[in-house]
Order: sequence, then C-alpha cells, then structure tokens
Amino acid sequence: MSESVPLTIDGKTIELPVVTGSEDEKALDISKLRDATGYITLDQGYGNTGSCTSAITYIDGDAGILRYRGIPIEQFEEAPNFIEVCWLLIFGNLPSAEEYGDFSERLTKHAMLNESMKYHFQGFPNQAPPMAILSAMINALSCFHPDMIEMDSDDRFITAAARLISKIRTIAAFAHRSSIGRTYNYPNPNLLYVENFMHMLFSEPHAPHETDDIVRLAFNLVLILHADHEQNCSTSTVRLVGSSGANLFASCAAGVCALWGPLHGGANVAVLEMLEQIHKGDLSVEEYMRQAKDKNSGIRLMGFGHRVYKSFDPRAQMLQRVAEKLLAHLNINDPLLEIGRRLEEIALNDSYFVERKLYPNVDFYSGIILRALGIPTNMFTVVFAMGRMPGWIAHWREQNLQGSRIGRPRQIYTGPEMNDYVPRVQRGWVSDSAADIIPGRPRPTFDL
Ligand code: CMC
Repeated sequence: MSESVPLTIDGKTIELPVVTGSEDEKALDISKLRDATGYITLDQGYGNTGSCTSAITYIDGDAGILRYRGIPIEQFEEAPNFIEVCWLLIFGNLPSAEEYGDFSERLTKHAMLNESMKYHFQGFPNQAPPMAILSAMINALSCFHPDMIEMDSDDRFITAAARLISKIRTIAAFAHRSSIGRTYNYPNPNLLYVENFMHMLFSEPHAPHETDDIVRLAFNLVLILHADHEQNCSTSTVRLVGSSGANLFASCAAGVCALWGPLHGGANVAVLEMLEQIHKGDLSVEEYMRQAKDKNSGIRLMGFGHRVYKSFDPRAQMLQRVAEKLLAHLNINDPLLEIGRRLEEIALNDSYFVERKLYPNVDFYSGIILRALGIPTNMFTVVFAMGRMPGWIAHWREQNLQGSRIGRPRQIYTGPEMNDYVPRVQRGWVSDSAADIIPGRPRPTFDL
C-alpha cells in the first residue's frame, strides 16, 4: 500500500505521497503542492530538497557511509582501478573483461586532441587558471565532435564517455604544459590511464617520466574517491544544464565551473594555502583555529565540514592512510602533513567543531598527496575534475534515461510591488538619447 502524509494548509488537507529509497530514506513528494494549495516550499541551499531519484551513489552522512552502485568505497582500496569504477558508475555494473577491454581501447583511441585545439591553449595568457582553460576546452569539444551531440545509441554514448574521460586528462596536462611554457607531451598508447597523465604532465624531451606501482595505485585511489558524490554542487549543475537538452560536453563544462569554487572542489587548493600560510609562520595553528571559529574573520578551517557528512567522511580517512603510505614510500617528510595532523587533532577536540559536527572532508588530505606527486597547486582542482568526470557522465545519462522535465526552481519574490516606468528626462537625462547623458564628457578609451 502506498504511504502518504496529510498536510493541512488554510483549512484544506491534502495527502503528500511518501517516496522511499532502497535504504529506507523517506521523501515527501510535493510535486502537486502548488497546484493543490498555491504554496511552494522554500529551501535555500537545498539542504532538504531531493531533486531526483538516483541509483548511482548512496551516502549515509550520519554513519559515514559512501557506496558506488551499492559497493562500499573502502572495497576499492585494495587494488584501485579508476577505469573500472568509471564503467561501474556510468553503466551500473562492474565491467566484464570484454567490456573493460573495449572501453580501455576507446580511451586510448580518443586520448589525442584535434591538432587545432592546441592553438586554443596558446590563446590563453600564461597565468590563466587551469580550471578556466579546462571548462573552455571541454565545451569546445562539442565543436570538434558534433557527431557526439546526438547520442542516439549506446555505442555512441560509450564513445562519448570514453572521449571525455580520456580527453580531460590530455586537456589538463596540456593546460599545465602551456602555463609553464614547455612542449606538449602527446598521449602514449602503451601507458595506462594514470601513467599516461603523469607522462603528459612531467616528461621532458630527453627525460621520460616514470611512474611506479605505488604511485599509480595511490593516484587511482585519489581519482576513485572523487568519482561521484551524488547531488553535490557540480553534479547538480551538470544535471540542471543537461535537463535543458544541452549536450554532454556543455553540461560537463558547466560542472567544471561549479567545481572551481573554494567551498566545493577549490577547497583542496585552499587547504594547501592554509597549511602553507601556517608553515611560513604567518599564523600559528592556535591563532588560525581561533580565527576559523570567529564568524567575523572571514576564515574557515578549509577541508573541514560537509553538508551531508555529520560524522567522519570515509574518503578523508582513506586519503589520510594513502598520504602516510605515499610519503613514506617517496621518502618525503612534509611539514604540512604534520600541521594538518595538528589542526585535525585540535578540531576534533574543540567544542565549536564537535557541536557543529565538523570533520575532515575529502579535500583535507588530498592536497598533501598531490603535492607529494609533484602536481602543482593550481592543478589540484583540475585533478578533482578528472576524478569527478565519470560521476557527471553517469548522472547526465541517468537523467536522460529517466526522461525528466527541465530543471526550473521557483522563488519567493521580495522586490518592490508594482511600479511605473519614469520617463528619462524626468530622471535628469538631457534628452531621450543615451549618447547625451553627460554632455561634454569625452568617450572613454579601451582598457585591455
Ligand atoms: N570552519 C569553521 N566553521 C565552519 C566550517 C569550517 N570549515 N564549516 C562550517 N562551519 C560552521 C558554520 O559557520 C556554521 O556555523 P553556525 O551554525 O554557528 O552559523 C555551521 O558550521 C554550519 O555550516 P554551514 O556553512 O551552514 O554548512 P554547509 O552545509 O552550508 O556548508 C561546507 C558545508 C562544506 C561548504 C562548509 O562546511 C565549509 O565551508 N567548509 C570549508 C570548505 C570545504 O572544505 N569545502 C569542501 C567540501 S567537501 C568536497 C566538495 O564538496 O568539493
């Protein structure tokens, strides 16, 4: 029997259907609320709003649980393979040998960029933020692969997914090489996904970069831990843009822009900057913590807190283990790791953080790992985007298969009530023409 909950508004009672998820999470279906009562719901920041049903990722933020297609995230720690997880998220099953082989061939086949895309990189100034380049270039892919815009068969979709997952890595590496004025390294078809990325980033004409197994596995795990996180800001953006019928490339380019912000993917850069600031002696750990608790300081403890996790973030715990292992393997004694540990220890015992249930999130330790691998700080969020790409693709596909309506929230208007247009001359204009607004003032020159 379908469950419902009565709601009485202005003396009228309606029944709101209850939607139950596979882990027994409950939602009230309010899709008929406005028609029936004239009311809408208001939920700034969407903390209580489910925008869709989804079978991709399950999070229980109180218990610190994260599962991809039902599989606990911890089970990927043993032998992490990012490409296997890409397939799992997008298509819903762990790939058979044949599916994996076919997908990895497509990844290799589509790793190169159209040669004329190279000139786009040269059009950006040297200091251009790599996230701006990444988003622009992913969007530009729709110009180079117009055949991929109409995805009318599974085969085409698999190719489009492989193109994006493979090319984001090439674009990311080219953006970095271009920003440091070095030659581009083309992808090598004989290298695996992560090794190929490291080669494109770091190889020099006479010094090919080599990646060992521990580094390769650590990097795979970093990408896996970023691969999906249900309706976060960037994934919701991809779904919203995609709901208008925009193509996969345009939708994912929008996702990159959403990820860029310091409260989302940009937090991994902000964490590193915070640790460096403390290390340089600008602020002591104690002073930083004092300011992070002061609402007027404008400072937060970056890499701490989460909208959904109200106990530990399982990704942070796994990344801390990876960081310890990797630094020991690479024989790196990074003082920032020690500062991170101290901040964490203080925060976990401080009533401000305990009462608000603020714990380390995925960004707290990922920067230390990426830094140990030699990845420049301005590329950290780009690596997050590489990891999140399969999640975006999976959600775009799921939404398309569900045939959902265009995303279009409502609002409560708080502006002025009905007002009249005041003719220009009554507002001090000398005539009705915009050219005469301030007579005698010279036209400005261009500022580049
Ligand atoms: N440092 C200090 N205080 C904090 C922090 C923090 N990192 N995070 C939350 N608070 C306080 C906040 O001031 C508020 O206090 P009060 O109730 O007294 O007003 C309370 O905790 C609740 O915070 P909120 O801003 O309402 O929580 P939210 O769910 O809207 O925001 C968040 C979540 C992740 C944006 C926030 O915790 C934050 O800004 N953290 C730092 C940035 C960060 O690490 N972002 C990465 C998020 S995880 C990966 C990702 O999504 O990309």
